[in-house]
Amino acid sequence: MNIVITYGTYDLLHIGHISMLKRCRSLGDRLIVGLSTDAFNLKMKNKVCIQTYAERKEILEALRWVDQVIPEENWEQKSADVENYSVDVFAIGDDWKGKFDFLKSLCKVIYLPRTEGISTTLRKNQIVQTFSLPGLRNPGTAPDETP
Ligand code: CTP
Repeated sequence: MNIVITYGTYDLLHIGHISMLKRCRSLGDRLIVGLSTDAFNLKMKNKVCIQTYAERKEILEALRWVDQVIPEENWEQKSADVENYSVDVFAIGDDWKGKFDFLKSLCKVIYLPRTEGISTTLRKNQIVQTFSLPGLRNPGTAPDETP
């Protein structure tokens, strides 16, 4: 059995994430996702997530391409994860190209092309812009009864 591992934040799941997970899973028989914890995101990646770690984990676990989700709590854990989970392939988006070549002595390392035109950051900005437009109502609120 070929075991694949990938890492990321996966906040506000979007089509670029889905494409990444599908392609990662197709590289083997089992996909493990190292999901960045809220503390790791904040301290090391300077990212504030909209969805909590528990929410992001449950969403990923519901996807057919994801077999297991483990916490990513620091930059140094990857070598130990590869050994502990008997990983054959480490795969991640090419925004990280070259950064994880040190794992090549332990497993195959693959950088996959990112999906263009989408990111969590972009989606957050789109949401802010959309709902700051005058006259637009948050679709979650009760309809305005005034004619
Ligand atoms: N990814 C991708 N294509 C995108 C966005 C992300 O292939 N358009 C991949 C990343 O390369 C990574 C994984 O999805 O392997 C998780 O990335 P993550 O950092 O969660 O996604 P982003 O949308 O880039 O988040 P942010 O804008 O917060 O950096």
